[in-house]
Amino acid sequence: MDFTVKSGEADTLRGACAIVGVAAPRRLSPAASRLDKVSGGRISALLKSGDIATELGKTTVLHCPGESAPVSRILVVGCGKNKHLSARQFVTLAGAAAQAVQNTGAADALVYLAELDVDGRGLGWKTRQIVLAARASRYRFDEFKSHDKAPKPRLKRLTLAVTGRSQLNAAKAAVARGLAIANGMDLARTLGNRPGNRCTPGDLAEQARTLKKTHGSLKVEVLDQKAMEKLGMGALLSVARGSRQPPKLIVMEYRGGKKTAKPVVLVGKGVTFDAGGISLKPGKAMDEMKFDMCGAATVFGCMEAVAELKLPINLVGVVPATENLPDGDASKPGDIVTSMSGQTIEVLNTDAEGRLILCDALTYVKKFNPDVVIDLATLTGACIVALGHEAAGLLGNHQPLVDALLEAGESACDRAWQLPLWEEYDEQLASNFADMANIGNGGAGTITAASFLGRFTRDYRWAHLDIAGVAWKSGAEKGATGRPVPLVMQYLLARSGKSDS
Ligand code: BES
Ligand code: MN
Ligand code: ZN
Repeated sequence: MDFTVKSGEADTLRGACAIVGVAAPRRLSPAASRLDKVSGGRISALLKSGDIATELGKTTVLHCPGESAPVSRILVVGCGKNKHLSARQFVTLAGAAAQAVQNTGAADALVYLAELDVDGRGLGWKTRQIVLAARASRYRFDEFKSHDKAPKPRLKRLTLAVTGRSQLNAAKAAVARGLAIANGMDLARTLGNRPGNRCTPGDLAEQARTLKKTHGSLKVEVLDQKAMEKLGMGALLSVARGSRQPPKLIVMEYRGGKKTAKPVVLVGKGVTFDAGGISLKPGKAMDEMKFDMCGAATVFGCMEAVAELKLPINLVGVVPATENLPDGDASKPGDIVTSMSGQTIEVLNTDAEGRLILCDALTYVKKFNPDVVIDLATLTGACIVALGHEAAGLLGNHQPLVDALLEAGESACDRAWQLPLWEEYDEQLASNFADMANIGNGGAGTITAASFLGRFTRDYRWAHLDIAGVAWKSGAEKGATGRPVPLVMQYLLARSGKSDS
Protein backbone atom coordinates (compact mmCIF):
# COMPACT_ATOMS: atom_id res chain seq x y z
CA MET A 1 0.00 0.00 0.00
CA ASP A 2 1.24 3.50 -0.87
CA PHE A 3 1.09 6.43 1.49
CA THR A 4 1.17 10.00 0.30
CA VAL A 5 0.58 13.37 1.88
CA LYS A 6 -1.42 16.16 0.28
CA SER A 7 -2.47 19.59 1.38
CA GLY A 8 -5.91 20.84 0.55
CA GLU A 9 -9.46 21.02 1.77
CA ALA A 10 -11.93 18.17 1.83
CA ASP A 11 -14.30 19.79 -0.64
CA THR A 12 -11.60 19.86 -3.34
CA LEU A 13 -9.36 16.77 -2.99
CA ARG A 14 -10.64 13.98 -5.23
CA GLY A 15 -10.64 10.30 -4.42
CA ALA A 16 -12.63 7.11 -3.97
CA CYS A 17 -13.23 7.67 -0.27
CA ALA A 18 -12.83 10.39 2.33
CA ILE A 19 -12.38 9.41 5.97
CA VAL A 20 -13.66 12.00 8.45
CA GLY A 21 -14.54 12.19 12.13
CA VAL A 22 -17.85 13.16 13.72
CA ALA A 23 -18.41 13.55 17.45
CA ALA A 24 -21.61 13.20 19.46
CA PRO A 25 -24.18 14.58 19.37
CA ARG A 26 -23.66 16.27 15.99
CA ARG A 27 -20.23 17.84 15.95
CA LEU A 28 -18.65 17.65 12.51
CA SER A 29 -14.89 17.91 12.10
CA PRO A 30 -13.77 20.66 9.70
CA ALA A 31 -13.40 18.18 6.82
CA ALA A 32 -16.74 16.54 7.61
CA SER A 33 -18.32 19.94 7.61
CA ARG A 34 -16.95 20.83 4.18
CA LEU A 35 -18.07 17.51 2.74
CA ASP A 36 -21.46 18.05 4.32
CA LYS A 37 -21.79 21.35 2.48
CA VAL A 38 -20.82 19.99 -0.94
CA SER A 39 -23.07 16.99 -0.51
CA GLY A 40 -26.19 19.02 0.19
CA GLY A 41 -26.18 18.33 3.91
CA ARG A 42 -26.09 14.53 3.63
CA ILE A 43 -23.93 14.03 6.70
CA SER A 44 -25.96 16.26 8.98
CA ALA A 45 -29.24 14.80 7.71
CA LEU A 46 -28.09 11.25 8.42
CA LEU A 47 -26.81 12.30 11.84
CA LYS A 48 -30.20 13.73 12.60
CA SER A 49 -32.01 10.61 11.49
CA GLY A 50 -29.70 8.49 13.63
CA ASP A 51 -28.11 6.69 10.69
CA ILE A 52 -24.58 7.73 11.54
CA ALA A 53 -23.09 6.34 14.73
CA THR A 54 -20.97 8.76 16.73
CA GLU A 55 -19.77 6.35 19.41
CA LEU A 56 -16.01 6.07 19.53
CA GLY A 57 -14.72 3.88 16.74
CA LYS A 58 -18.09 3.17 15.12
CA THR A 59 -17.98 3.62 11.37
CA THR A 60 -20.59 4.41 8.73
CA VAL A 61 -20.09 4.50 4.97
CA LEU A 62 -22.06 7.00 2.88
CA HIS A 63 -22.18 6.03 -0.76
CA CYS A 64 -22.63 8.46 -3.66
CA PRO A 65 -22.56 11.66 -1.62
CA GLY A 66 -23.56 13.69 -4.67
CA GLU A 67 -22.20 15.16 -7.86
CA SER A 68 -20.52 18.14 -6.32
CA ALA A 69 -18.68 16.01 -3.78
CA PRO A 70 -15.10 15.22 -4.87
CA VAL A 71 -15.27 11.66 -3.49
CA SER A 72 -17.49 8.68 -4.22
CA ARG A 73 -17.75 7.57 -0.58
CA ILE A 74 -17.48 9.13 2.82
CA LEU A 75 -16.39 6.98 5.71
CA VAL A 76 -17.58 8.61 8.92
CA VAL A 77 -15.80 7.58 12.10
CA GLY A 78 -17.41 8.20 15.47
CA CYS A 79 -15.30 10.22 17.89
CA GLY A 80 -17.48 9.78 20.98
CA LYS A 81 -18.65 12.55 23.24
CA ASN A 82 -15.52 14.32 24.34
CA LYS A 83 -14.22 17.52 22.80
CA HIS A 84 -10.67 16.19 22.93
CA LEU A 85 -9.67 12.65 22.27
CA SER A 86 -7.16 10.85 24.44
CA ALA A 87 -4.19 9.29 22.68
CA ARG A 88 -5.67 5.83 23.23
CA GLN A 89 -9.02 6.89 21.82
CA PHE A 90 -7.34 8.21 18.71
CA VAL A 91 -5.50 4.91 18.23
CA THR A 92 -8.81 3.02 18.60
CA LEU A 93 -10.51 5.28 16.13
CA ALA A 94 -7.71 5.11 13.58
CA GLY A 95 -7.75 1.32 13.86
CA ALA A 96 -11.49 1.15 13.29
CA ALA A 97 -11.26 3.48 10.30
CA ALA A 98 -8.43 1.45 8.77
CA GLN A 99 -10.39 -1.75 9.16
CA ALA A 100 -13.58 -0.23 7.76
CA VAL A 101 -12.05 1.34 4.67
CA GLN A 102 -10.67 -2.04 3.63
CA ASN A 103 -14.20 -3.39 3.67
CA THR A 104 -15.33 -0.83 1.10
CA GLY A 105 -14.55 -1.18 -2.58
CA ALA A 106 -12.35 1.90 -2.56
CA ALA A 107 -8.91 1.55 -4.13
CA ASP A 108 -7.73 4.79 -2.55
CA ALA A 109 -8.76 6.95 0.34
CA LEU A 110 -8.14 10.42 1.72
CA VAL A 111 -7.67 10.47 5.47
CA TYR A 112 -8.80 13.58 7.35
CA LEU A 113 -8.23 12.28 10.85
CA ALA A 114 -5.08 14.23 11.68
CA GLU A 115 -7.24 17.33 12.11
CA LEU A 116 -8.94 15.86 15.20
CA ASP A 117 -7.92 17.25 18.58
CA VAL A 118 -5.88 14.81 20.62
CA ASP A 119 -4.69 15.74 24.11
CA GLY A 120 -1.02 16.65 24.03
CA ARG A 121 -0.36 15.18 20.59
CA GLY A 122 0.35 17.00 17.37
CA LEU A 123 0.26 16.35 13.66
CA GLY A 124 3.37 14.16 13.55
CA TRP A 125 2.14 11.82 16.25
CA LYS A 126 -1.32 11.51 14.73
CA THR A 127 0.15 10.88 11.30
CA ARG A 128 2.40 8.13 12.64
CA GLN A 129 -0.54 6.47 14.39
CA ILE A 130 -2.65 6.56 11.23
CA VAL A 131 0.12 4.85 9.28
CA LEU A 132 0.59 2.23 11.99
CA ALA A 133 -3.15 1.56 12.18
CA ALA A 134 -3.43 1.20 8.42
CA ARG A 135 -0.50 -1.16 8.25
CA ALA A 136 -1.65 -3.23 11.24
CA SER A 137 -5.01 -3.74 9.55
CA ARG A 138 -3.20 -5.14 6.51
CA TYR A 139 -0.89 -7.54 8.27
CA ARG A 140 -1.44 -11.19 7.37
CA PHE A 141 0.56 -14.25 8.24
CA ASP A 142 -0.32 -16.87 5.66
CA GLU A 143 3.13 -18.25 4.80
CA PHE A 144 1.89 -21.68 5.75
CA LYS A 145 -1.63 -21.64 4.31
CA SER A 146 -1.74 -23.64 1.10
CA HIS A 147 -5.22 -22.30 0.37
CA ASP A 148 -7.68 -19.97 2.11
CA LYS A 149 -5.24 -17.14 1.71
CA ALA A 150 -6.88 -13.78 2.37
CA PRO A 151 -7.90 -12.08 -0.89
CA LYS A 152 -5.67 -9.24 -2.08
CA PRO A 153 -7.06 -6.04 -0.59
CA ARG A 154 -8.47 -3.46 -2.99
CA LEU A 155 -7.13 -0.48 -1.13
CA LYS A 156 -3.89 0.56 -2.83
CA ARG A 157 -3.26 4.08 -1.63
CA LEU A 158 -3.88 6.18 1.44
CA THR A 159 -3.49 9.92 1.16
CA LEU A 160 -3.06 11.78 4.41
CA ALA A 161 -4.60 15.19 4.02
CA VAL A 162 -3.25 18.22 5.83
CA THR A 163 -4.77 21.65 5.56
CA GLY A 164 -1.68 23.85 5.19
CA ARG A 165 1.32 23.50 2.91
CA SER A 166 3.46 24.33 5.91
CA GLN A 167 2.43 21.00 7.42
CA LEU A 168 3.55 18.93 4.46
CA ASN A 169 7.12 18.33 5.50
CA ALA A 170 6.32 17.33 9.07
CA ALA A 171 3.61 14.98 7.86
CA LYS A 172 5.87 13.39 5.24
CA ALA A 173 8.62 12.80 7.79
CA ALA A 174 6.07 11.26 10.16
CA VAL A 175 4.79 8.97 7.38
CA ALA A 176 8.35 7.78 6.69
CA ARG A 177 8.91 7.03 10.36
CA GLY A 178 5.52 5.36 10.66
CA LEU A 179 6.30 3.14 7.68
CA ALA A 180 9.70 2.15 9.02
CA ILE A 181 8.19 1.26 12.40
CA ALA A 182 5.42 -0.67 10.64
CA ASN A 183 8.02 -2.58 8.61
CA GLY A 184 9.88 -3.36 11.82
CA MET A 185 6.69 -4.52 13.51
CA ASP A 186 5.71 -6.69 10.55
CA LEU A 187 9.11 -8.34 10.60
CA ALA A 188 8.91 -8.89 14.35
CA ARG A 189 5.43 -10.36 14.01
CA THR A 190 6.37 -12.65 11.16
CA LEU A 191 9.46 -14.00 12.92
CA GLY A 192 7.37 -14.52 16.06
CA ASN A 193 4.55 -16.25 14.21
CA ARG A 194 6.80 -18.72 12.40
CA PRO A 195 6.69 -22.15 14.00
CA GLY A 196 9.63 -23.52 15.92
CA ASN A 197 10.56 -25.94 13.14
CA ARG A 198 10.83 -23.07 10.66
CA CYS A 199 12.41 -20.54 12.98
CA THR A 200 15.43 -22.25 14.47
CA PRO A 201 18.55 -20.50 15.76
CA GLY A 202 20.07 -21.17 12.34
CA ASP A 203 17.02 -19.64 10.64
CA LEU A 204 17.38 -16.51 12.78
CA ALA A 205 21.05 -16.25 11.81
CA GLU A 206 19.99 -16.55 8.18
CA GLN A 207 17.43 -13.80 8.78
CA ALA A 208 20.20 -11.51 9.98
CA ARG A 209 22.12 -12.15 6.77
CA THR A 210 18.99 -11.45 4.73
CA LEU A 211 18.55 -8.17 6.57
CA LYS A 212 22.10 -7.27 5.68
CA LYS A 213 21.35 -7.87 2.01
CA THR A 214 18.60 -5.23 2.02
CA HIS A 215 20.49 -2.84 4.27
CA GLY A 216 24.14 -2.63 3.32
CA SER A 217 24.65 -0.36 6.32
CA LEU A 218 24.36 -3.39 8.61
CA LYS A 219 27.25 -5.57 9.66
CA VAL A 220 26.39 -9.10 10.68
CA GLU A 221 28.45 -11.64 12.57
CA VAL A 222 27.23 -15.02 13.77
CA LEU A 223 29.11 -16.83 16.51
CA ASP A 224 28.71 -20.59 16.48
CA GLN A 225 29.04 -23.06 19.31
CA LYS A 226 32.83 -23.26 19.01
CA ALA A 227 33.22 -19.51 19.22
CA MET A 228 30.95 -19.44 22.25
CA GLU A 229 32.94 -22.20 23.91
CA LYS A 230 36.10 -20.16 23.39
CA LEU A 231 34.45 -17.19 25.06
CA GLY A 232 33.40 -19.34 27.99
CA MET A 233 29.66 -18.91 27.56
CA GLY A 234 28.85 -21.85 29.81
CA ALA A 235 25.42 -20.57 30.79
CA LEU A 236 24.17 -20.09 27.25
CA LEU A 237 25.64 -23.38 26.10
CA SER A 238 24.09 -25.26 29.02
CA VAL A 239 20.66 -24.40 27.64
CA ALA A 240 21.56 -25.51 24.12
CA ARG A 241 22.74 -28.95 25.32
CA GLY A 242 19.19 -30.29 25.28
CA SER A 243 18.68 -29.46 21.60
CA ARG A 244 19.84 -30.91 18.30
CA GLN A 245 19.80 -27.42 16.81
CA PRO A 246 23.15 -25.67 17.16
CA PRO A 247 22.91 -22.40 19.10
CA LYS A 248 23.89 -19.08 17.52
CA LEU A 249 24.92 -15.73 18.89
CA ILE A 250 23.85 -13.21 16.30
CA VAL A 251 25.44 -9.77 16.24
CA MET A 252 24.11 -6.98 14.04
CA GLU A 253 25.81 -3.59 13.92
CA TYR A 254 24.51 -0.35 12.50
CA ARG A 255 26.78 2.68 12.54
CA GLY A 256 24.89 5.82 11.56
CA GLY A 257 26.29 8.07 14.26
CA LYS A 258 29.65 9.65 14.95
CA LYS A 259 32.53 7.19 15.06
CA THR A 260 33.15 8.10 18.67
CA ALA A 261 29.51 7.92 19.78
CA LYS A 262 28.93 5.00 22.13
CA PRO A 263 26.28 2.65 20.79
CA VAL A 264 22.90 1.68 22.13
CA VAL A 265 22.97 -2.09 22.50
CA LEU A 266 19.78 -4.13 22.24
CA VAL A 267 19.88 -7.73 23.46
CA GLY A 268 16.92 -9.96 22.59
CA LYS A 269 16.05 -13.36 24.04
CA GLY A 270 15.98 -15.79 21.15
CA VAL A 271 14.64 -19.06 22.54
CA THR A 272 13.09 -20.40 19.35
CA PHE A 273 11.14 -22.97 21.34
CA ASP A 274 10.91 -23.30 25.10
CA ALA A 275 9.67 -26.69 26.25
CA GLY A 276 11.22 -26.04 29.66
CA GLY A 277 14.05 -28.55 29.26
CA ILE A 278 14.18 -31.29 31.90
CA SER A 279 11.92 -29.07 34.05
CA LEU A 280 9.39 -29.79 31.33
CA LYS A 281 6.45 -27.44 30.90
CA PRO A 282 2.87 -28.76 31.01
CA GLY A 283 1.33 -29.43 27.61
CA LYS A 284 -1.38 -26.79 27.70
CA ALA A 285 -0.65 -23.98 25.24
CA MET A 286 2.94 -25.14 24.94
CA ASP A 287 2.78 -24.27 21.25
CA GLU A 288 2.88 -20.63 22.33
CA MET A 289 6.45 -21.13 23.46
CA LYS A 290 7.41 -20.67 19.81
CA PHE A 291 6.94 -17.00 20.70
CA ASP A 292 9.80 -17.19 23.18
CA MET A 293 12.04 -15.46 20.64
CA CYS A 294 9.92 -12.31 20.47
CA GLY A 295 12.65 -10.32 22.24
CA ALA A 296 14.97 -11.33 19.40
CA ALA A 297 12.25 -10.48 16.90
CA THR A 298 11.99 -7.00 18.41
CA VAL A 299 15.72 -6.53 17.95
CA PHE A 300 15.44 -7.56 14.29
CA GLY A 301 12.50 -5.22 13.79
CA CYS A 302 14.33 -2.27 15.32
CA MET A 303 17.54 -2.93 13.36
CA GLU A 304 15.50 -2.91 10.18
CA ALA A 305 13.58 0.26 11.05
CA VAL A 306 16.69 2.15 12.14
CA ALA A 307 18.59 1.14 9.00
CA GLU A 308 15.65 2.15 6.84
CA LEU A 309 15.46 5.57 8.50
CA LYS A 310 19.25 5.96 8.49
CA LEU A 311 19.09 7.31 12.02
CA PRO A 312 22.19 9.20 13.17
CA ILE A 313 22.97 6.76 15.97
CA ASN A 314 25.12 3.73 16.54
CA LEU A 315 23.13 0.63 17.34
CA VAL A 316 24.16 -2.94 18.06
CA GLY A 317 21.67 -5.80 18.18
CA VAL A 318 22.67 -9.04 19.88
CA VAL A 319 20.55 -12.18 19.84
CA PRO A 320 21.48 -15.31 21.77
CA ALA A 321 19.46 -18.01 20.00
CA THR A 322 18.79 -21.58 21.10
CA GLU A 323 16.05 -24.08 21.76
CA ASN A 324 15.24 -25.27 25.27
CA LEU A 325 14.39 -28.97 25.01
CA PRO A 326 14.76 -32.07 27.17
CA ASP A 327 17.32 -34.62 25.99
CA GLY A 328 19.61 -37.22 27.50
CA ASP A 329 22.38 -34.66 27.29
CA ALA A 330 20.30 -31.74 28.59
CA SER A 331 21.18 -29.79 31.73
CA LYS A 332 19.54 -31.15 34.86
CA PRO A 333 18.18 -29.38 37.92
CA GLY A 334 21.12 -28.95 40.29
CA ASP A 335 23.72 -28.72 37.54
CA ILE A 336 26.26 -25.95 38.05
CA VAL A 337 27.53 -23.96 35.11
CA THR A 338 30.13 -21.23 34.75
CA SER A 339 29.03 -18.09 32.92
CA MET A 340 31.26 -15.98 30.68
CA SER A 341 31.58 -13.52 33.57
CA GLY A 342 33.18 -16.23 35.69
CA GLN A 343 30.24 -16.35 38.10
CA THR A 344 28.87 -19.83 38.72
CA ILE A 345 25.17 -20.65 38.53
CA GLU A 346 23.23 -23.51 40.05
CA VAL A 347 20.48 -24.38 37.57
CA LEU A 348 17.64 -25.23 39.94
CA ASN A 349 15.05 -25.03 37.17
CA THR A 350 15.95 -25.59 33.55
CA ASP A 351 12.83 -23.68 32.53
CA ALA A 352 14.43 -20.47 33.79
CA GLU A 353 16.59 -20.58 30.65
CA GLY A 354 16.10 -17.06 29.32
CA ARG A 355 18.29 -15.53 32.00
CA LEU A 356 20.97 -18.14 31.34
CA ILE A 357 21.36 -17.21 27.71
CA LEU A 358 20.94 -13.49 28.38
CA CYS A 359 23.58 -13.33 31.10
CA ASP A 360 26.30 -14.45 28.72
CA ALA A 361 25.06 -12.13 25.98
CA LEU A 362 25.04 -9.27 28.51
CA THR A 363 28.64 -10.02 29.45
CA TYR A 364 29.62 -10.27 25.79
CA VAL A 365 28.25 -6.80 24.91
CA LYS A 366 30.73 -5.05 27.19
CA LYS A 367 33.10 -5.18 24.22
CA PHE A 368 31.00 -2.57 22.44
CA ASN A 369 31.60 -0.03 25.20
CA PRO A 370 27.87 0.69 25.22
CA ASP A 371 26.22 3.94 26.18
CA VAL A 372 23.20 1.93 27.33
CA VAL A 373 22.13 -1.70 27.07
CA ILE A 374 18.47 -2.65 26.82
CA ASP A 375 17.48 -6.28 26.89
CA LEU A 376 14.11 -7.53 25.69
CA ALA A 377 12.81 -10.89 26.77
CA THR A 378 9.69 -12.98 27.17
CA LEU A 379 11.25 -13.82 30.49
CA THR A 380 8.62 -14.64 33.10
CA GLY A 381 5.04 -15.83 33.32
CA ALA A 382 5.00 -13.81 36.56
CA CYS A 383 5.08 -10.62 34.49
CA ILE A 384 1.69 -11.54 33.05
CA VAL A 385 0.39 -12.07 36.57
CA ALA A 386 1.65 -8.63 37.59
CA LEU A 387 0.78 -6.49 34.56
CA GLY A 388 -1.41 -8.61 32.30
CA HIS A 389 -1.13 -7.79 28.63
CA GLU A 390 -1.13 -4.01 28.92
CA ALA A 391 2.40 -3.13 29.85
CA ALA A 392 5.85 -4.64 29.65
CA GLY A 393 7.72 -4.97 32.92
CA LEU A 394 10.63 -2.53 33.13
CA LEU A 395 13.57 -2.69 35.49
CA GLY A 396 17.02 -1.20 35.35
CA ASN A 397 20.08 0.13 37.14
CA HIS A 398 19.97 3.70 35.79
CA GLN A 399 16.83 5.69 36.51
CA PRO A 400 17.20 8.25 33.69
CA LEU A 401 17.29 5.38 31.18
CA VAL A 402 14.24 3.78 32.79
CA ASP A 403 12.45 7.14 32.73
CA ALA A 404 13.27 7.63 29.04
CA LEU A 405 11.84 4.20 28.24
CA LEU A 406 8.70 4.80 30.32
CA GLU A 407 8.20 8.08 28.49
CA ALA A 408 8.79 6.44 25.09
CA GLY A 409 6.23 3.75 25.91
CA GLU A 410 3.67 6.32 26.99
CA SER A 411 4.25 8.38 23.88
CA ALA A 412 4.06 5.39 21.53
CA CYS A 413 1.01 3.87 23.28
CA ASP A 414 3.20 0.82 23.88
CA ARG A 415 3.51 1.01 27.60
CA ALA A 416 5.97 -0.29 30.13
CA TRP A 417 5.72 -0.13 33.91
CA GLN A 418 8.61 -0.06 36.32
CA LEU A 419 9.15 -2.66 39.01
CA PRO A 420 11.73 -2.25 41.79
CA LEU A 421 15.14 -3.89 41.87
CA TRP A 422 15.72 -3.75 45.62
CA GLU A 423 18.51 -5.88 47.03
CA GLU A 424 16.04 -7.77 49.23
CA TYR A 425 14.87 -9.50 46.05
CA ASP A 426 18.39 -10.24 44.94
CA GLU A 427 18.97 -12.15 48.18
CA GLN A 428 16.51 -14.76 46.94
CA LEU A 429 19.11 -15.91 44.45
CA ALA A 430 21.46 -17.28 47.11
CA SER A 431 22.67 -20.85 46.44
CA ASN A 432 24.26 -23.34 48.82
CA PHE A 433 26.52 -24.65 46.09
CA ALA A 434 27.28 -21.92 43.55
CA ASP A 435 27.55 -18.12 43.35
CA MET A 436 23.84 -17.93 42.66
CA ALA A 437 20.79 -19.98 41.78
CA ASN A 438 18.91 -19.34 38.54
CA ILE A 439 15.57 -18.90 40.31
CA GLY A 440 14.31 -17.13 43.42
CA ASN A 441 12.32 -18.78 46.17
CA GLY A 442 9.80 -16.25 47.40
CA GLY A 443 7.57 -14.70 44.79
CA ALA A 444 8.18 -11.63 42.61
CA GLY A 445 9.40 -13.82 39.76
CA THR A 446 9.80 -10.95 37.31
CA ILE A 447 11.97 -9.04 39.74
CA THR A 448 14.17 -11.96 40.77
CA ALA A 449 14.73 -12.74 37.09
CA ALA A 450 15.82 -9.16 36.50
CA SER A 451 17.96 -9.24 39.66
CA PHE A 452 19.72 -12.24 38.19
CA LEU A 453 20.47 -10.28 35.01
CA GLY A 454 21.52 -7.31 37.14
CA ARG A 455 24.47 -9.36 38.38
CA PHE A 456 25.89 -9.30 34.86
CA THR A 457 25.24 -5.65 33.98
CA ARG A 458 27.11 -3.79 36.69
CA ASP A 459 29.57 -2.16 34.28
CA TYR A 460 27.08 -0.17 32.22
CA ARG A 461 23.69 1.51 32.23
CA TRP A 462 21.11 -1.14 31.70
CA ALA A 463 17.36 -1.64 31.41
CA HIS A 464 15.38 -4.83 31.02
CA LEU A 465 11.98 -5.13 29.38
CA ASP A 466 10.03 -8.27 30.30
CA ILE A 467 7.68 -8.57 27.33
CA ALA A 468 6.03 -11.90 28.24
CA GLY A 469 2.59 -10.25 28.42
CA VAL A 470 2.76 -7.96 25.41
CA ALA A 471 4.65 -9.79 22.66
CA TRP A 472 1.81 -12.03 21.54
CA LYS A 473 -1.89 -12.66 21.92
CA SER A 474 -3.53 -15.97 22.74
CA GLY A 475 -6.97 -17.29 21.88
CA ALA A 476 -8.84 -16.49 18.69
CA GLU A 477 -6.41 -13.70 17.85
CA LYS A 478 -3.35 -15.84 18.54
CA GLY A 479 -0.32 -14.19 17.03
CA ALA A 480 2.67 -11.95 17.60
CA THR A 481 1.90 -8.26 18.16
CA GLY A 482 5.12 -6.58 17.07
CA ARG A 483 5.42 -5.01 20.50
CA PRO A 484 7.57 -3.43 21.83
CA VAL A 485 9.02 -2.22 18.52
CA PRO A 486 7.03 1.06 18.81
CA LEU A 487 8.41 1.73 22.31
CA VAL A 488 12.02 1.00 21.44
CA MET A 489 11.80 2.95 18.18
CA GLN A 490 10.31 5.93 20.00
CA TYR A 491 13.20 5.79 22.44
CA LEU A 492 15.73 5.68 19.59
CA LEU A 493 13.95 8.42 17.63
CA ALA A 494 13.83 10.64 20.71
CA ARG A 495 17.56 10.07 21.22
CA SER A 496 18.10 11.13 17.61
CA GLY A 497 16.01 14.27 18.10
CA LYS A 498 13.40 12.98 15.67
CA SER A 499 10.39 12.10 17.78
CA ASP A 500 7.14 13.16 16.16
CA SER A 501 5.01 15.37 18.32
N1 BES B 1 9.54 -18.25 28.38
C1 BES B 1 9.16 -18.45 29.72
C2 BES B 1 8.32 -17.32 30.28
C3 BES B 1 6.90 -17.29 29.84
C4 BES B 1 6.00 -18.25 30.26
C5 BES B 1 6.46 -16.28 29.02
C6 BES B 1 4.68 -18.18 29.85
C7 BES B 1 5.14 -16.21 28.63
C8 BES B 1 4.25 -17.18 29.04
C9 BES B 1 10.40 -18.59 30.60
O1 BES B 1 11.49 -19.20 30.00
C10 BES B 1 10.00 -19.43 31.76
O2 BES B 1 9.72 -20.57 31.57
N2 BES B 1 9.99 -18.83 32.94
C11 BES B 1 9.59 -19.52 34.12
C12 BES B 1 10.54 -19.12 35.21
C13 BES B 1 10.41 -19.96 36.45
C14 BES B 1 10.87 -21.37 36.17
C15 BES B 1 11.25 -19.34 37.55
C16 BES B 1 8.16 -19.09 34.44
O3 BES B 1 7.82 -17.92 34.24
O4 BES B 1 7.40 -19.95 34.86
MN1 MN C 1 11.41 -21.31 30.20
ZN1 ZN D 1 11.61 -19.07 27.99
